[in-house]
Amino acid sequence: MSSICYLDGEFLPLAEARVSPLDRGFLFGDGAYEVIPVYSGRPFRLDEHLVRLGNTLAALKLPDPHAFDEWRRIVREVATRNPWSDQSIYLQVSRGPDETRNHAFPKVTRPTVFLMSEELLTPSAAQRAEGVGAISAADFRWLRCDLKTVSLLANCLLKQKAVEAGCMETILLRDGFLTEGASSSIFIVRNGMLLAPPKSHLMLPGITYDVILELAQEHAMPHEVREILEDELRSADEIWMSSSTKEILPITRLDDRPVGDGRPGPFAQRMYACYQDFKNTVMRGE
Ligand code: PDD
Repeated sequence: MSSICYLDGEFLPLAEARVSPLDRGFLFGDGAYEVIPVYSGRPFRLDEHLVRLGNTLAALKLPDPHAFDEWRRIVREVATRNPWSDQSIYLQVSRGPDETRNHAFPKVTRPTVFLMSEELLTPSAAQRAEGVGAISAADFRWLRCDLKTVSLLANCLLKQKAVEAGCMETILLRDGFLTEGASSSIFIVRNGMLLAPPKSHLMLPGITYDVILELAQEHAMPHEVREILEDELRSADEIWMSSSTKEILPITRLDDRPVGDGRPGPFAQRMYACYQDFKNTVMRGE
Protein backbone atom coordinates (compact mmCIF):
# COMPACT_ATOMS: atom_id res chain seq x y z
CA MET A 1 0.00 0.00 0.00
CA SER A 2 1.39 3.42 -0.93
CA SER A 3 2.04 5.59 2.10
CA ILE A 4 2.20 9.34 2.64
CA CYS A 5 5.46 10.79 3.84
CA TYR A 6 6.60 14.25 4.94
CA LEU A 7 9.59 15.89 3.30
CA ASP A 8 10.69 19.44 4.12
CA GLY A 9 7.26 20.89 4.74
CA GLU A 10 5.25 18.85 2.24
CA PHE A 11 3.09 15.73 2.56
CA LEU A 12 3.41 13.52 -0.52
CA PRO A 13 3.33 9.88 -1.64
CA LEU A 14 6.53 8.12 -0.53
CA ALA A 15 7.25 6.98 -4.10
CA GLU A 16 7.46 10.65 -5.19
CA ALA A 17 9.84 11.90 -2.46
CA ARG A 18 13.29 13.04 -3.71
CA VAL A 19 16.43 14.08 -1.83
CA SER A 20 19.67 15.49 -3.30
CA PRO A 21 22.61 13.06 -3.69
CA LEU A 22 24.68 15.80 -2.03
CA ASP A 23 22.60 15.46 1.13
CA ARG A 24 24.95 14.82 4.04
CA GLY A 25 22.64 12.11 5.31
CA PHE A 26 23.46 10.20 2.10
CA LEU A 27 27.18 11.09 1.84
CA PHE A 28 28.21 10.93 5.50
CA GLY A 29 25.36 9.34 7.47
CA ASP A 30 25.18 12.79 9.06
CA GLY A 31 21.81 12.91 10.78
CA ALA A 32 19.56 11.92 13.65
CA TYR A 33 16.49 9.67 13.68
CA GLU A 34 13.67 8.28 15.78
CA VAL A 35 11.24 5.38 15.40
CA ILE A 36 7.92 6.20 17.08
CA PRO A 37 5.18 3.57 17.54
CA VAL A 38 1.57 4.60 16.95
CA TYR A 39 -1.23 2.56 18.53
CA SER A 40 -4.87 3.09 17.47
CA GLY A 41 -3.77 6.24 15.63
CA ARG A 42 -2.00 7.78 18.67
CA PRO A 43 1.78 8.15 18.98
CA PHE A 44 3.09 6.38 22.10
CA ARG A 45 5.59 8.24 24.33
CA LEU A 46 5.85 10.96 21.69
CA ASP A 47 7.33 13.61 23.97
CA GLU A 48 10.04 11.22 25.18
CA HIS A 49 11.01 10.42 21.58
CA LEU A 50 11.12 14.13 20.75
CA VAL A 51 13.28 14.92 23.80
CA ARG A 52 15.74 12.18 22.72
CA LEU A 53 15.72 13.61 19.18
CA GLY A 54 16.54 17.06 20.62
CA ASN A 55 19.44 15.56 22.60
CA THR A 56 20.85 13.84 19.50
CA LEU A 57 20.53 17.00 17.39
CA ALA A 58 22.25 19.10 20.07
CA ALA A 59 25.15 16.62 20.34
CA LEU A 60 25.52 16.59 16.53
CA LYS A 61 25.46 20.42 16.54
CA LEU A 62 22.61 20.20 14.07
CA PRO A 63 20.16 23.10 14.42
CA ASP A 64 16.72 21.78 15.42
CA PRO A 65 14.49 22.75 12.47
CA HIS A 66 11.24 22.70 14.48
CA ALA A 67 9.84 23.79 17.81
CA PHE A 68 8.56 20.97 20.05
CA ASP A 69 4.89 21.65 19.24
CA GLU A 70 5.58 21.71 15.51
CA TRP A 71 7.23 18.29 15.80
CA ARG A 72 4.19 17.00 17.65
CA ARG A 73 1.89 18.32 14.94
CA ILE A 74 3.97 16.85 12.08
CA VAL A 75 4.22 13.39 13.68
CA ARG A 76 0.47 13.34 14.41
CA GLU A 77 -0.35 14.48 10.89
CA VAL A 78 1.80 11.72 9.34
CA ALA A 79 -0.11 9.23 11.52
CA THR A 80 -3.48 10.69 10.46
CA ARG A 81 -2.65 10.68 6.76
CA ASN A 82 -1.70 6.99 6.73
CA PRO A 83 -4.24 4.16 6.74
CA TRP A 84 -3.06 1.81 9.51
CA SER A 85 -4.34 1.89 13.06
CA ASP A 86 -0.92 0.78 14.40
CA GLN A 87 2.09 2.38 12.74
CA SER A 88 5.82 2.73 13.03
CA ILE A 89 6.79 6.30 12.19
CA TYR A 90 10.36 6.85 11.03
CA LEU A 91 11.62 10.41 11.52
CA GLN A 92 14.98 11.61 10.20
CA VAL A 93 16.77 14.97 10.27
CA SER A 94 19.97 15.19 8.25
CA ARG A 95 22.41 18.09 7.97
CA GLY A 96 20.98 18.59 4.48
CA PRO A 97 22.60 19.24 1.10
CA ASP A 98 25.87 21.09 0.44
CA GLU A 99 27.36 22.33 -2.84
CA THR A 100 30.31 19.92 -2.78
CA ARG A 101 31.34 16.89 -0.75
CA ASN A 102 33.16 18.31 2.25
CA HIS A 103 33.59 16.73 5.68
CA ALA A 104 33.33 20.13 7.40
CA PHE A 105 29.79 21.42 7.96
CA PRO A 106 28.24 23.66 5.28
CA LYS A 107 28.42 27.41 5.97
CA VAL A 108 24.65 27.54 5.95
CA THR A 109 22.84 24.43 7.16
CA ARG A 110 19.47 23.56 5.63
CA PRO A 111 18.43 20.37 7.45
CA THR A 112 16.42 17.79 5.51
CA VAL A 113 13.39 16.62 7.48
CA PHE A 114 11.83 13.33 6.44
CA LEU A 115 9.11 11.24 8.06
CA MET A 116 7.46 8.09 6.75
CA SER A 117 5.10 5.51 8.16
CA GLU A 118 4.81 1.74 7.91
CA GLU A 119 2.26 -0.60 9.37
CA LEU A 120 3.48 -1.60 12.84
CA LEU A 121 3.80 -5.36 12.94
CA THR A 122 4.80 -6.37 16.46
CA PRO A 123 6.13 -9.93 17.03
CA SER A 124 3.59 -12.67 16.36
CA ALA A 125 1.92 -14.69 19.11
CA ALA A 126 4.01 -17.69 17.95
CA GLN A 127 7.26 -15.73 18.30
CA ARG A 128 6.25 -14.60 21.78
CA ALA A 129 5.22 -18.11 22.78
CA GLU A 130 8.45 -19.71 21.52
CA GLY A 131 10.91 -16.88 22.04
CA VAL A 132 13.61 -16.09 19.49
CA GLY A 133 17.27 -16.89 19.00
CA ALA A 134 20.22 -14.51 19.38
CA ILE A 135 23.96 -14.65 18.87
CA SER A 136 26.58 -12.66 20.74
CA ALA A 137 29.32 -10.50 19.21
CA ALA A 138 31.95 -7.97 20.21
CA ASP A 139 30.55 -4.44 20.23
CA PHE A 140 32.83 -2.61 17.80
CA ARG A 141 30.71 0.54 17.46
CA TRP A 142 31.92 4.07 18.24
CA LEU A 143 31.83 5.62 21.70
CA ARG A 144 28.63 7.68 21.26
CA CYS A 145 26.07 4.86 21.14
CA ASP A 146 23.81 7.06 23.29
CA LEU A 147 23.04 9.14 20.17
CA LYS A 148 20.38 7.95 17.74
CA THR A 149 22.26 8.77 14.54
CA VAL A 150 21.62 7.42 11.05
CA SER A 151 25.27 6.25 10.85
CA LEU A 152 24.23 2.65 11.52
CA LEU A 153 26.73 0.65 9.46
CA ALA A 154 28.20 -1.16 12.49
CA ASN A 155 24.68 -2.00 13.74
CA CYS A 156 23.73 -3.26 10.26
CA LEU A 157 26.82 -5.50 10.01
CA LEU A 158 26.15 -6.88 13.49
CA LYS A 159 22.44 -7.46 12.77
CA GLN A 160 23.24 -9.24 9.51
CA LYS A 161 25.37 -11.76 11.44
CA ALA A 162 22.25 -12.71 13.40
CA VAL A 163 20.15 -13.03 10.25
CA GLU A 164 22.79 -15.28 8.66
CA ALA A 165 22.74 -17.46 11.78
CA GLY A 166 18.92 -17.73 11.54
CA CYS A 167 18.51 -15.50 14.62
CA MET A 168 16.58 -12.36 15.48
CA GLU A 169 19.21 -10.30 17.30
CA THR A 170 22.93 -9.89 18.03
CA ILE A 171 23.69 -9.20 21.69
CA LEU A 172 26.72 -6.97 22.08
CA LEU A 173 29.53 -7.30 24.63
CA ARG A 174 32.18 -4.68 25.25
CA ASP A 175 35.15 -5.44 27.53
CA GLY A 176 33.29 -8.37 29.10
CA PHE A 177 30.07 -6.40 29.77
CA LEU A 178 26.64 -6.46 28.11
CA THR A 179 25.80 -3.23 26.29
CA GLU A 180 22.63 -3.80 24.19
CA GLY A 181 21.40 -5.45 21.00
CA ALA A 182 22.19 -4.37 17.43
CA SER A 183 18.74 -2.73 17.33
CA SER A 184 17.25 -3.26 20.80
CA SER A 185 17.85 -2.92 24.53
CA ILE A 186 18.65 -6.14 26.43
CA PHE A 187 17.46 -7.18 29.90
CA ILE A 188 18.25 -10.34 31.85
CA VAL A 189 16.61 -12.10 34.80
CA ARG A 190 18.70 -14.00 37.37
CA ASN A 191 17.42 -15.53 40.58
CA GLY A 192 14.13 -13.61 40.37
CA MET A 193 15.84 -10.25 39.80
CA LEU A 194 15.43 -8.19 36.63
CA LEU A 195 18.78 -6.65 35.62
CA ALA A 196 19.32 -3.80 33.16
CA PRO A 197 22.65 -2.27 32.13
CA PRO A 198 23.02 1.38 33.22
CA LYS A 199 22.63 4.16 30.65
CA SER A 200 25.98 5.42 29.40
CA HIS A 201 27.67 6.56 26.19
CA LEU A 202 27.86 2.84 25.25
CA MET A 203 24.12 2.27 24.73
CA LEU A 204 21.01 3.99 23.45
CA PRO A 205 18.71 5.27 26.20
CA GLY A 206 15.72 3.21 25.02
CA ILE A 207 12.23 4.61 25.41
CA THR A 208 10.89 1.05 25.93
CA TYR A 209 13.75 0.42 28.41
CA ASP A 210 12.43 3.35 30.49
CA VAL A 211 8.84 2.07 30.33
CA ILE A 212 9.97 -1.40 31.48
CA LEU A 213 11.86 -0.02 34.47
CA GLU A 214 8.92 2.24 35.39
CA LEU A 215 6.59 -0.78 35.26
CA ALA A 216 9.00 -2.89 37.35
CA GLN A 217 8.96 -0.11 39.95
CA GLU A 218 5.17 0.34 39.86
CA HIS A 219 4.44 -3.39 40.15
CA ALA A 220 7.13 -4.01 42.80
CA MET A 221 9.06 -6.46 40.64
CA PRO A 222 12.60 -6.89 41.99
CA HIS A 223 14.97 -5.05 39.65
CA GLU A 224 18.40 -3.50 39.59
CA VAL A 225 20.24 -1.28 37.12
CA ARG A 226 23.90 -2.26 37.08
CA GLU A 227 26.71 -3.51 34.87
CA ILE A 228 26.06 -7.05 33.60
CA LEU A 229 28.99 -9.41 33.11
CA GLU A 230 29.22 -11.73 30.11
CA ASP A 231 29.05 -14.75 32.47
CA GLU A 232 25.84 -13.41 34.01
CA LEU A 233 24.33 -13.05 30.55
CA ARG A 234 25.31 -16.59 29.61
CA SER A 235 23.89 -18.10 32.80
CA ALA A 236 20.72 -15.94 32.91
CA ASP A 237 17.33 -17.54 33.61
CA GLU A 238 15.72 -15.18 31.09
CA ILE A 239 16.93 -12.75 28.43
CA TRP A 240 14.64 -10.21 26.73
CA MET A 241 15.05 -7.75 23.95
CA SER A 242 12.98 -4.56 23.88
CA SER A 243 12.32 -1.80 21.38
CA SER A 244 9.55 0.45 20.10
CA THR A 245 8.68 -2.03 17.35
CA LYS A 246 9.44 -5.37 19.08
CA GLU A 247 8.02 -4.30 22.48
CA ILE A 248 9.23 -7.07 24.84
CA LEU A 249 10.41 -10.30 23.26
CA PRO A 250 11.97 -13.28 25.08
CA ILE A 251 15.29 -14.61 23.74
CA THR A 252 15.28 -18.35 24.40
CA ARG A 253 18.50 -19.38 22.62
CA LEU A 254 21.87 -17.65 22.84
CA ASP A 255 24.70 -18.89 20.61
CA ASP A 256 22.77 -22.15 20.07
CA ARG A 257 22.37 -22.88 23.78
CA PRO A 258 19.02 -22.66 25.61
CA VAL A 259 18.46 -19.67 27.89
CA GLY A 260 17.18 -21.04 31.22
CA ASP A 261 14.91 -23.96 30.36
CA GLY A 262 14.68 -22.79 26.74
CA ARG A 263 11.11 -21.42 27.18
CA PRO A 264 9.99 -17.81 27.71
CA GLY A 265 10.15 -17.19 31.45
CA PRO A 266 7.41 -16.04 33.85
CA PHE A 267 9.02 -12.63 34.43
CA ALA A 268 8.90 -11.82 30.70
CA GLN A 269 5.28 -12.93 30.46
CA ARG A 270 4.29 -10.77 33.41
CA MET A 271 6.14 -7.73 32.07
CA TYR A 272 4.59 -8.21 28.63
CA ALA A 273 1.11 -8.21 30.19
CA CYS A 274 1.91 -5.06 32.23
CA TYR A 275 3.26 -3.38 29.10
CA GLN A 276 0.07 -4.14 27.12
CA ASP A 277 -2.12 -2.89 29.98
CA PHE A 278 -0.06 0.28 30.28
CA LYS A 279 -0.19 0.90 26.53
CA ASN A 280 -3.97 0.41 26.44
CA THR A 281 -4.51 2.73 29.40
CA VAL A 282 -2.36 5.47 27.87
CA MET A 283 -4.00 5.09 24.47
CA ARG A 284 -7.49 5.41 25.98
CA GLY A 285 -6.23 8.67 27.47
CA GLU A 286 -6.81 7.62 31.09
N1 PDD B 1 15.88 0.73 17.36
N2 PDD B 1 19.28 0.11 21.09
C1 PDD B 1 19.44 0.24 19.75
C2 PDD B 1 20.81 0.14 19.18
C3 PDD B 1 18.31 0.48 18.93
O1 PDD B 1 18.48 0.63 17.60
C4 PDD B 1 17.01 0.54 19.52
C5 PDD B 1 15.77 0.78 18.72
C6 PDD B 1 16.90 0.38 20.91
C7 PDD B 1 15.57 0.46 21.62
O2 PDD B 1 15.14 1.80 21.72
P1 PDD B 1 13.58 2.18 21.81
O3 PDD B 1 13.01 1.40 22.93
O4 PDD B 1 13.60 3.64 22.05
O5 PDD B 1 12.95 1.80 20.47
C8 PDD B 1 18.06 0.18 21.66
C9 PDD B 1 14.83 1.20 16.50
C10 PDD B 1 13.49 0.62 16.75
C11 PDD B 1 15.30 1.12 15.05
O6 PDD B 1 16.42 1.53 14.80
O7 PDD B 1 14.52 0.69 14.18
